[in-house]
Amino acid sequence: MASWNPSAKAKAAGAPAKADISKLELGQQMIAEWRGKPVWIVRRGPEALANLEKLNDKLADPNSEKPEQPDYIPHTPARSLRPEYAVMVGICTHLGCSPSYRPEVAPEDLGPEWLGGFHCPCHGSKFDLSGRVYKGVPAPTNLVIPPHKYEDDNTLVIGVDQEAV
Ligand code: FES
Repeated sequence: MASWNPSAKAKAAGAPAKADISKLELGQQMIAEWRGKPVWIVRRGPEALANLEKLNDKLADPNSEKPEQPDYIPHTPARSLRPEYAVMVGICTHLGCSPSYRPEVAPEDLGPEWLGGFHCPCHGSKFDLSGRVYKGVPAPTNLVIPPHKYEDDNTLVIGVDQEAV
């Protein structure tokens, strides 16, 4: 029977999304979709993680004090349940453009101090590889980290909270 069922539709729209991260290599970004939004998953190596620590002075909210992330995400530079993996909603917190993944260090257009991150082409906001926003750019807050958990080593579930441990 064909019928339009608003509750089923609403349920599907809010359903968790699973991402297989087993093929994601160091330095790569993959994009999952959850509730119609892009969710970035970025795998960071030791050098990228060490670089995050060096950026604190340049960032507007280096300790993630504004609530753009679930309670169980540490307020560390890595902002992550598993530091190797960054998980965030890929929508600029200024006016909603989609920032570009720019993992390279010191590219010509972003300057010698760039240590990898995300650059929004619309009005020039900059974020580090944890989605922490730079000072002096239009975006007011860090990128949003969605609720998520790991079902096993290779499966990330977006839209479901990590249970308290
Ligand atoms: S929407 Fe990203 S800087 Fe304006």
